[in-house]
Order: sequence, then structure tokens, then C-alpha cells
Amino acid sequence: MQAITKNFFLFLSNNKTLDRLAKQYGTRFGVDKLVGGETFSQAVPVIRQLNDEGLVVTVDHLGEFVDSEEEAKERAGEAVETVQAMFDHNLACEMSVKLTSLGLDISRELVIRNMERILDKAQALGITLQIDMEDSGRCQATIDVFKELRAKYPNVGLVIQSYLYRSDRDLDELDKYDPYVRLVKGAYKEPGTVAFQDKDMVDKNLKQLVKKHMLNGNYTAVGSHDEEVINFTKELAREHGISKDRFEFQMLYGMRNKLQHDLAKEGYTVRVYMPYGMEWYGYYMRRLAERPANIAFAVKGIFSR
Ligand code: FDA
Repeated sequence: MQAITKNFFLFLSNNKTLDRLAKQYGTRFGVDKLVGGETFSQAVPVIRQLNDEGLVVTVDHLGEFVDSEEEAKERAGEAVETVQAMFDHNLACEMSVKLTSLGLDISRELVIRNMERILDKAQALGITLQIDMEDSGRCQATIDVFKELRAKYPNVGLVIQSYLYRSDRDLDELDKYDPYVRLVKGAYKEPGTVAFQDKDMVDKNLKQLVKKHMLNGNYTAVGSHDEEVINFTKELAREHGISKDRFEFQMLYGMRNKLQHDLAKEGYTVRVYMPYGMEWYGYYMRRLAERPANIAFAVKGIFSR
């Protein structure tokens, strides 16, 4: 039953008509529990509140799969402004970006140019950017763009997903770039030809990747709400004398708030991934697919407005 629900919401996450309707009707259906605001300005007080509570943040301007050069350039311009605003507001905040929103599907040259605009500004202001990983068809292109940028910018990281068979090899290959990697399970619907279908395998592989990356001495972000994975990471660090400034935990805004605060009180860096913007539809559907409990507050949202 859970698999059917998951597949249903992953199917909906790709539906362009529903995406358009969602934008027309704005922030509804409990979306505000998972999204920081419709604009970065709206998100600023929410970020500040989290900072005051001892949590750091990474923001994601919602929107993916841009197919016009003009729009991709516009998105890059907005990202430059957001980086400046983060600095001006003195927020403990990084930025996460999806390369498809910056022209990955149009041309490599375009996406590199757009990323360079953002990274130049971010580097000057001491802000880090992390490249989210999208579906498996775009994995190689994303890694290639990362490698090209990493040769020039120390302030860029990326995401690797444990459901993909290739990820162990990718980490080996990336090691020489001394990369800041967020390790996650993976949120897209992928076929058995490229990804583990068995959740236990995905969980096990995440632990293996965390171990490899941390023991390689690379800064590691563990992007998971799974306490087993979190406890595994803490134990690994203790066992190998890895200090708390060499890794961090990352969780999505609105998920496992108590755990986020408990870890921060224990002295771990906890980064909250906060999406903002109007284009919340695909993001929201992927969260509903992951966790049936999220559906409960979505339904509550529909009836409480
Ligand atoms: P999973 O969903 O497997 O749950 C494991 C266990 O954790 C559950 O059984 C439950 O016990 C507990 N749990 C989970 N959520 C809970 C909740 N809300 N309340 C209470 N208990 C809960 N994906 C991707 O493909 N590309 C990307 O770039 C990113 N980026 C990213 C950033 C960050 C910061 C995070 C946290 C996640 C991503 N993801 C992602 C999504 C990721 O791939 C994955 O789909 C989700 O994190 C869900 O997997 P988990 O490891 O969190 O646990």
C-alpha cells in the first residue's frame, strides 16, 4: 500500500497541468508547513528565528526544469540577489540550487555561465552553494558541471544519492576534488536498472557512503531524518575521532523539529533545508510520496482554509 501511495505522488510530482494549477492557487494544502515563504523576504524572519534557535539553513528557490534561456538567466539573477540579501541580513545560511532551473537541459555553456554568476557573488561574500541532485538521467551532467566549477570555486558542493548503484564509484571519483557532499537516499522515481528498489539496500548504502566520505576526510553533510543513519554517523565519528566540525546533519524544514533541536543542543551542526517561492508543487508532492503522515497535514490544510 505504501509503495502504491509513493508511486502515486511521484507520478503527480511530474504532472505539468497540476503544477500550473498549483501556482494559480498559491500556498495551500499545508504547504506553508514545508515552505519558508513565497519570496525570500518572507523567508528572512523564518531563517532568523532558526538561526536564533541554534540552527543554520540552506535555502532553495523552488522551481525546476526551466526550458527557456531567458528564464534560466532570470533565475540566476534572482539567485545573485538572494545571496546578497543573505549577506545583508547577516544570516547563517547557504544556498541549494537545482541545475535544471539554471539551464542544464538547454546547454552546458548556459548552466555554467549562470552558475559562475552566482558563485562569483557568493565567493566574494563567503557563502557556499550546494548543487541538489535531480533524476538519474541528469546525474552525469550534474557531476560534470560540478567538477568544472569546483576547479575554480572552493564554495561549491553537491549531492549524491544512495539509491543509485553508481554512487559508490562517483564518490571515489569525486574524492580528488575534496568535495563538500550532502549524502541522501534519493527522492525521484528510478527504475531497477539504475537504482536499488529495496529500501533496506538504500538505507545500507547510505551508511556505507557516509562512512566512505567521512573516512576519506571530506566534509560530509548527512541529509536524512532517519535516526538509524544519524546514530550511525555519530558513532562513526566517535569511533574514528572525527570532530564535529567535519560533518553536519541536514533536514528538511518542517520535518523532525525536535530531533533538529536536540542534535543542535548536543553540539552538532544542524542545517535546515528551507524551500521558498511559488513553484512548490513538485517539491511538495515528493515529500508527500516519502511520508504518508505528511498527507494528514495536507488534508487538514485543505479544510482549514
Ligand atoms: P526515510 O524517509 O527513509 O525515513 C526513515 C525513517 O525516519 C522513517 O521510518 C521514520 O522513522 C523517520 N522519519 C522520516 N521522516 C520523518 C518525519 N517527518 N517525522 C518523524 N519521523 C520521520 N533528494 C534528492 O534526490 N536530491 C536532493 O538533492 C535532495 N536533497 C535533500 C536535502 C536534505 C536536507 C534532505 C533531508 C533530503 C534531501 N533529499 C534529496 C531527499 C532525500 O533523498 C529523501 O527522499 C528524504 O530525505 C527521505 O529520506 P530520509 O533519509 O529522510 O528517511
